[in-house]
Amino acid sequence: VTKLPRLLLAGILFLTIAPRGVADAAPERGRTLAAACAECHTAPGGAAFAGGHTVETPSGTVLAPNITPDRKTGIGGWSEDELIAYLRTGHNAHATATGPMAEIVAQASSRLSAPDLHALAVYLAGIPAVSAAAQSAPAASDPAGLQAGKAIYSDVCTACHGWEGAGTPGLFPALRGSAVVTAPDPAGLLATILHGARTPPTDAAPTGAAMPSFGRKLDDAAIATVATFLRSVWGNSAAPVDAATVAVARRSTR
Ligand code: HEC
Ligand code: HEC
Repeated sequence: VTKLPRLLLAGILFLTIAPRGVADAAPERGRTLAAACAECHTAPGGAAFAGGHTVETPSGTVLAPNITPDRKTGIGGWSEDELIAYLRTGHNAHATATGPMAEIVAQASSRLSAPDLHALAVYLAGIPAVSAAAQSAPAASDPAGLQAGKAIYSDVCTACHGWEGAGTPGLFPALRGSAVVTAPDPAGLLATILHGARTPPTDAAPTGAAMPSFGRKLDDAAIATVATFLRSVWGNSAAPVDAATVAVARRSTR
């Protein structure tokens, strides 16, 4: 667990004042800018940009996910335009930036020039794909538990995220293929369900959508059940979550 404010400040400062090289060829520029992203997205001793780095924030512990081009556990399914939209506005059809990433978007990446964003996107698309699934246990296969999770999901989540977890582009992020949902450490997923989340307003998208908190409405067992469901369906594949883990998340991220 890393102290957030230092990393956040470093990332924002670096991205806004990143010095230009003499030759400044686009690939070098992309590499220079991506160094600020690695601060959070590369775990100490881990594969570059493969995530797994947890960050302590005032509203809880969040995980900087895998942003390598792995199609299943990274952002390999994102087009360059989609990645640039995320970095400019904080959201796209796949995900919405929350917590520290929302700050990075609002204060740094939304201010990068179009050529800088392009250089960064091209660089990230070219790094080795790393599968996070290799590090996590297999998904749950208990039919009764999955049925119960589906019932909770249908009751309280489908209105925004859709029956098949596809979300609504620009409004509600997809939960199918979401790195937050399938991260080996479920901390980010649990914090989102417990406390909700809000998209940062940016110049390009002035009103941010909000996700309500379910910490009062759902008890630990229900949150574990719906989290396990989400980690096991629509091609998502990550280890189940138990109620004890939710209880710890609830205490540590109040
Ligand atoms: C201060 C730490 C920090 C820095 C610096 C940072 N990020 Fe993030 N990033 C996060 C966290 C935490 C998340 C997960 C939060 C979320 O998805 O709402 C995230 C999420 C993302 C996602 C979404 C991945 C997904 O599948 O949902 C992308 C893409 C991303 N970051 C790219 C970048 C890029 C590119 C940079 C550098 C310009 C960067 N980040 C810098 C912490 C950081
Ligand atoms: C009223 C609409 C609404 C409902 C109901 C809702 N969400 Fe969300 N959810 C959102 C929005 C909006 C976001 C984007 C978060 C942000 O803006 O920071 C989001 C984000 C998320 C994310 C982060 C996804 C990512 O990849 O960044 C997860 C996980 C999530 N919701 C799970 C759930 C679960 C589980 C439920 C049901 C218990 C639920 N949501 C109910 C609106 C909703």
